[in-house]
Amino acid sequence: MTDPEIILQESQYIMPTYRRSVVIFEKGRGAYLYDIKGKKYLDCISGIATCPLGHAHPVVTSALTKQAKKLINVTNLFYTQPQVELAKKLVSIAGFDGKVFFSNSGTEAIEAAIKLTRKYAQKKEIIAVENAFHGRTLGALSATHKARFREPFEPLVPGFKHIAYDSPSALVKAITDDTAAFFMEPILGEAGVILPSRGYLKEIREICSQRGILMVVDEIQTGMGRTGTFFAYQHEGIMPDIITLAKGLANGIPIGATIARAEIANAFEPGDHGSTFGGNSLATAVANAVVDFIIEKNLAEYAATAGAMLEEKLHSLKKNTPLIKEIRAKGLMIAIEVNALAKELVAQCLSKGLVINNTSDNTLRLLPPLIIGKRDIKKCITILSNILIGSDNKRGRIKPQPQEAIL
Ligand SMILES: Cc1ncc(COP(=O)(O)O)c(C=O)c1O
Repeated sequence: MTDPEIILQESQYIMPTYRRSVVIFEKGRGAYLYDIKGKKYLDCISGIATCPLGHAHPVVTSALTKQAKKLINVTNLFYTQPQVELAKKLVSIAGFDGKVFFSNSGTEAIEAAIKLTRKYAQKKEIIAVENAFHGRTLGALSATHKARFREPFEPLVPGFKHIAYDSPSALVKAITDDTAAFFMEPILGEAGVILPSRGYLKEIREICSQRGILMVVDEIQTGMGRTGTFFAYQHEGIMPDIITLAKGLANGIPIGATIARAEIANAFEPGDHGSTFGGNSLATAVANAVVDFIIEKNLAEYAATAGAMLEEKLHSLKKNTPLIKEIRAKGLMIAIEVNALAKELVAQCLSKGLVINNTSDNTLRLLPPLIIGKRDIKKCITILSNILIGSDNKRGRIKPQPQEAIL
């Protein structure tokens, strides 16, 4: 098929739920992607954080092919070794006596957490935060905040309410006798990398413990070392009751995990929850290899170093252009608030061989793979710099726009 044929047939045969950039990727290697014409792109979004080891990493390829030759899935009617090994590993990293439920995506990891908190607490109410994103299946969507995602599909699951982010006092006020749990992202990802004040998670932990509700930390985007620690909650030295994980766990192979303290996990009985593919041998074998590699190579620490380098260079860039309004970053989770149409900048980056995305009209997001090299970081900055201030913006093609005009 030619490029136009692929694009035409996509619109004919695929449901129109995605707004895609006009590029057809064929292969990847390390931090780079190649389109079907062989053009090379620096991938600074890594499949929205699903590929922390980049593309075609030998550790992933080897674990995948080795396991595919042995066994892919027998379902949870039976025992398998990679699943148990992975659960043990994740519980040990989480740092508490816990148990895992495996699924196939982030939204499913959240669904399991919703059911588990309700079953354990024998209460119905779940509190989440404004601008949170927890997924798009009906339970997870009920925890997600954006009206645009929710309203066409109402009525959603009852019992959910949303409070201001970064406000411990809002949580105190919102808790009732029927509250089971508080769900939160340690850094809001889809909302545009919004970092809470230092100490927020600690305060939330204290409130949850004092008021007897469960603290559920959604590490689906922040986990796997991206922010500088394996889980982002570890920056504050706290221990949640439940952690949800997905995206980068098997470097692009679908998997989700809900990790809960054992006492809570034991509220689930056979038949309460399940998944045909969840915890399959292929995904868990790959996840074991990915987790081992991230730990062995200390990629969380590297994410902190590489992220700091990228952040510093972005701040230098900011000094030279009115187009950059703000930079928010933790490790390799970065947002650039711009005084311009973000989607136009994303398209320009793509045409210059840099893959990023935008989370809103004014927010660019970078989620580079954790294996990004220092030279790649310089390349990313050169492309951004050329677009925002340099040769590609010679005639001032990108004009600063007043915020009101864009919103
Ligand atoms: C924090 C968070 N939770 C949940 C999800 C949903 O994950 P999935 O798309 O795998 O269902 C996402 C996806 O972006 C996410 O960022």
